[in-house]
Amino acid sequence: MLLTILVDENTERNVTTLHRISMIHDQPALSFCMTCRDGHEAVQRGVRGGARLAQAFLSQSGITRWHRGFELRGVQCMSQCKRSCIVSLSARGRFSYIFGDLDPAERGHIEALRDLMPLYLAAPEGFLPREERPEPLRARILGRLPPPGSSSGLVISFEETPACSVQI
Ligand code: FES
Repeated sequence: MLLTILVDENTERNVTTLHRISMIHDQPALSFCMTCRDGHEAVQRGVRGGARLAQAFLSQSGITRWHRGFELRGVQCMSQCKRSCIVSLSARGRFSYIFGDLDPAERGHIEALRDLMPLYLAAPEGFLPREERPEPLRARILGRLPPPGSSSGLVISFEETPACSVQI
């Protein structure tokens, strides 16, 4: 990649592109599963529920693709197909979340996802206790993963858990 920059006559453009890419990698990502089915595909011209959820988010949330430092992206299946529609939130050095049972026709779900974004940015390590998440995203949480190296009190070493101590 670096070699390409040095020899390419469009160096400036490539550096800008690389800068953009590195910025993207440091941005939190709000990911929509575009292949989730919600059972309404037959009356929605075959457009899958996940794609309709992403579409509804973009059209109703007031958030554009690069708004507030987030990357909004589609993913083809996040392996939670039985709990569709699925959305995840993740970032380097922050907790990752996965939410399910989201309804593209439910405006409250769109608003909850929108409201979650600044809360995630403001919280240390992006950790959001149940009571601090928008109401629709409390019971719909399917996963919460601390980042590697997390300082969260949720993370404990095996040594702190006597039953897990292994004598070598
Ligand atoms: S199709 Fe959406 S999680 Fe599998």
